[in-house]
Amino acid sequence: MVTKLKPFVKWAGGKSQLLEPINYLIEKCPHSNRYSEPFLGGGAVYLSQLEKQSFQFCYLNDVNSPLIRMYQAFREYPNTTLVDYLSDLEAQYNIIDTLDRKEKLYYAHRDTYNSLDAGTYKTALFIFLNKAGFNGLYRENKRGQLNVPFGKRKTVSLCNLDHVKLFSELTSKTKSLFTVGDFSRCGIPITSESVVYLDPPYEKLSEASFVSYSSQRYSLENLVSFIQLICHKKAYFILSNSDTPEVRETFKDFNIIEVGASRNINSDGEGRKKITELLITNIK
Ligand SMILES: C[S@@+](CC[C@H](N)C(=O)[O-])C[C@H]1O[C@@H](n2cnc3c(N)ncnc32)[C@H](O)[C@@H]1O
Repeated sequence: MVTKLKPFVKWAGGKSQLLEPINYLIEKCPHSNRYSEPFLGGGAVYLSQLEKQSFQFCYLNDVNSPLIRMYQAFREYPNTTLVDYLSDLEAQYNIIDTLDRKEKLYYAHRDTYNSLDAGTYKTALFIFLNKAGFNGLYRENKRGQLNVPFGKRKTVSLCNLDHVKLFSELTSKTKSLFTVGDFSRCGIPITSESVVYLDPPYEKLSEASFVSYSSQRYSLENLVSFIQLICHKKAYFILSNSDTPEVRETFKDFNIIEVGASRNINSDGEGRKKITELLITNIK
């Protein structure tokens, strides 16, 4: 089956390239009817599972609230307010003929974004800034304001209406529940019918490598406790992480599978390299 649903945002650490091995593992759990993803990000794995309609319930969480509000807003289609804002923002940017003027527009929209509390226009700006900003990066300063630099793109494509319609249709068939918060306290119910895909910010490969999603911190100890809870409930899990001695040692009691991915490893965007990553799982 060719996947038609694509992530709505470009997200650092996105798993579009690793769908095949991850979906292969998920599909080895035939009696599971609950899919959970506590570090949703761009949601490449969730969207491909949603399209396959393999689960009755999906529980999706991320600490990034504007990101989760985006999924909730797209689910509201045919309410078209978000789609209308996106098509205006796209036209406004693409029609400008010089990169200098596009840059001014980008920073003006970023200021507006940071001045708004919430709402559909903020969600539209979130998508615009993701697509026109640097490399799918989400970064906040200490005051929680988005400070991603301009991405120097000539054009942006902000919304594929076919994807939005399909997403809205599929999320009404498969019950998808979106929450915002730290994965260890997000209240996702775990039962023996759950498959949990965990894709946390990666452990650093080196000091120069780049793992930044928000001002929130994430803890490996909490992740280990969460995985113990999943195993205790006789549920299945798949964890993605970087290939480091610490990760291998921490999860040595589980199946560890090496997979190859091409990643930006430095914040300057010039370090795109093929690297080995790990899938760690209790699926046999
Ligand atoms: C590697 S990305 C997930 C990428 C995703 N699998 C994809 O395909 O785009 C990690 C995500 O974890 C989220 N995150 C970071 N710390 C978190 C925490 N403590 N609890 C929940 N989510 C967290 C980040 O906001 C980010 O979206």
